Amino acid sequence: MDRWRTIIEPFRIHSVEPIRLTTVEQRDAALEVAGYNLFNLHAADVLIDLLTDSGTGAMSRDQWAAIQHGDESYAGSPSWFAFLKGVQTLFPFRHVIPTHQGRAAEKILFSVLGGPGKVVPNNTHFDTTRANVEATGAEAVDLVIAEGRDPAALHPFKGNMDVAALERLLDERPADVPVVFVTVTNNSGGGQPVSLENLRAVRAVCDRHGVPLFLDACRFAENAWFIKLREPGQGDREIPDIVREMAGLADGMTMSAKKDGLANIGGWLALNDDALAEQCRNLLILTEGFPTYGGLAGRDLEAIAQGLREVVDEDYLRYRVASTEYLGEALDRAGVPLVKPFGGHAIYIDARALLPHIAPLEYPGQALAVALYREGGIRGCEIGTVMFGQQPDGTESPAAMDLVRLAIPRRTYTQSHIDYVIEVVIWVAERASGLRGMRIVEQPPALRHFTARFAAV
Ligand SMILES: Cc1ncc(COP(=O)(O)O)c(C=O)c1O
Repeated sequence: MDRWRTIIEPFRIHSVEPIRLTTVEQRDAALEVAGYNLFNLHAADVLIDLLTDSGTGAMSRDQWAAIQHGDESYAGSPSWFAFLKGVQTLFPFRHVIPTHQGRAAEKILFSVLGGPGKVVPNNTHFDTTRANVEATGAEAVDLVIAEGRDPAALHPFKGNMDVAALERLLDERPADVPVVFVTVTNNSGGGQPVSLENLRAVRAVCDRHGVPLFLDACRFAENAWFIKLREPGQGDREIPDIVREMAGLADGMTMSAKKDGLANIGGWLALNDDALAEQCRNLLILTEGFPTYGGLAGRDLEAIAQGLREVVDEDYLRYRVASTEYLGEALDRAGVPLVKPFGGHAIYIDARALLPHIAPLEYPGQALAVALYREGGIRGCEIGTVMFGQQPDGTESPAAMDLVRLAIPRRTYTQSHIDYVIEVVIWVAERASGLRGMRIVEQPPALRHFTARFAAV
């Protein structure tokens, strides 16, 4: 296969879903009803849905077959044991606690470990992670390396944690840090990977301070693929082997199986600490379900178990990263400012750079995301001041970056869909100086990006 430059989808289509073609007028009307919040749209009014890669991928023939094996016994179902084996093959933690998705795992863990006066460092907290930390009264701090905050800086592992900053935090507040988190890949920082070397260094700091290290491992397979491609000495290793080393450096993990579980729902919390696991399981029973199914049906457990086998396949990962790169390279050639290098699951447009005439507090990312939908029916996601600007005390400040994320659902769109996206984004970018900022007319007290309503400035 190395003779050919074209990286094809390593699958063929087995079942199709129609996409409804809409006009600009129809999309204008839909935007108005949605309060210019793309989360409020009817998905049927979206042509190419790049809102998220979470739970939106296509499952394989073998996953659908596995679903038929789903055993819905309340306790001790064979599907639970298939799931447990799938998880522990890659992540050999002693305790695995199944949840309906990643944030349920976060909620449970931080309910036990968080609280006022506590501080949880992460390379960059994802929005639900930050919200779940802050909901307990604890503080969430982002300690990604400086390059990780600069959209244009080229670094092979821009998701790395600033180890010196972590050490300083642990020196200054030795009693306040219940857990250190590292998110692989770093979604909110552009889907950027974390190196094994960095994980080892973070582990060493955690050991010196006696603090546990957890992974937010949603995109562990993409992270492992980048390690194989980019980290010296890792090129000959098998992906499962790299994943196990990542897991071995941590004391636990939270996971959303809606990403690298290749499933439409699911997640888990896994850890080694017996006493902590006991507390977490008790909370699980309160809100999710019995410990052998958590928030999931037996059929979901089966789909995840099979997904975990498929996601570490190198043909899949090569295609996955190459197809994301294909979008990035075309936009880059056209001069659209992007976060670089390209991450695994998404291309991030630097809206602040593309729309310098719109101040961060007038949400350049939101303005751009709305324009992409209006012009081409493409739904992306603002990752910027709308998502992160709202402070717990009710004030507002600009986020570190104003990005629009075009997240690529796994195994879902073909190259011609992506060619269409490229055409639309370039068209909008060429007319960016005509876009106007936005203001919020209605918002909830937290996680406002999901439900806020907007109007043009
Ligand atoms: C890095 C990261 N952590 C946590 C989550 C939360 O997972 P879920 O959406 O399954 O609750 C996500 C989801 O997008 C994520 O990307």
